[in-house]
Amino acid sequence: MEHSRHVFRALLVLIAIVVAVSLGRGFLIPKSFGLNGPYRNDNVGEQMAVRSPQHGGVQSCAECHATQAQKRAEGSHKTVSCEVCHGPLSLHVTAGKRSAPMAVDKAFTLCARCHRRILGRPEKFPQVVLEQHVQGPVQGQVCLDCHDPHSPKL
Ligand code: HEC
Ligand code: HEC
Ligand code: HEC
Ligand code: HEC
Repeated sequence: MEHSRHVFRALLVLIAIVVAVSLGRGFLIPKSFGLNGPYRNDNVGEQMAVRSPQHGGVQSCAECHATQAQKRAEGSHKTVSCEVCHGPLSLHVTAGKRSAPMAVDKAFTLCARCHRRILGRPEKFPQVVLEQHVQGPVQGQVCLDCHDPHSPKL
């Protein structure tokens, strides 16, 4: 066994590394890491403390836009949030007042994002082949010629 000393030394180094790594991990990994997944859980609270919510939800819009809110609630877009088609509340309202115009996208591309027929979409979801559905060129605000975005079913 003339090489046993070499093997023993190599083993010693290996053991030292394993010990160093296991001890090091304990010191270096933050306490809340892994509580809810592979990230530092405390970070969620820290971010919440310094940021304010951008979206207000449908209810926040309804306070000032009862007409659109009621139409939407009674129509087939009742599951589509106002802010999906428009924009976040924070860019439109500050301190309870309209501070800037809200985005209004009237282009057919807005509707096409959800309703263009795509093979991967569930069969049951209402979708159309744009070129067949619209007689004439598919351009500009063509969908709004016939559909009301807040209550689109004819
Ligand atoms: C499916 C997309 C979509 C959803 C959802 C939606 N909107 Fe709209 N909204 C539009 C479009 C497109 C227009 C432009 C309509 C036009 O000019 O004919 C518009 C116009 C408006 C206008 C301008 C006045 C008017 O009626 O034309 C207001 C105010 C408005 N929306 C508020 C809301 C509110 C509040 C909600 C939620 C309760 C909402 N919208 C949900 C797409 C949407
Ligand atoms: C504090 C009241 C208030 C709230 C809350 C509010 N709006 Fe408005 N909004 C207004 C006023 C005032 C106008 C301008 C007059 C009008 O069109 O009724 C306006 C106009 C709009 C317009 C037309 C474009 C423009 O800015 O002139 C859209 C679209 C709109 N709002 C969407 C929304 C959506 C979506 C929400 C919710 C995320 C919302 N608003 C929340 C007060 C409000
Ligand atoms: C963010 C996705 C989204 C956008 C953008 C959107 N829709 Fe919809 N639309 C939906 C959902 C979800 C439904 C409800 C589907 C259901 O009931 O299964 C719906 C329902 C409809 C229906 C009724 C279909 C039926 O037979 O019940 C029509 C028509 C329609 N949308 C037209 C439009 C038009 C026009 C636009 C553009 C102004 C538009 N949609 C924008 C998601 C969207
Ligand atoms: C010339 C009028 C007209 C125009 C323009 C038009 N539609 Fe329609 N659309 C209809 C009619 C009519 C129906 C059938 C009645 C209904 O289900 O509301 C319909 C139904 C739909 C449906 C439901 C299909 C289903 O399987 O239930 C969707 C989604 C839709 N349209 C999206 C669009 C989109 C997106 C555009 C713009 C690219 C558009 N429409 C432009 C008249 C029109």
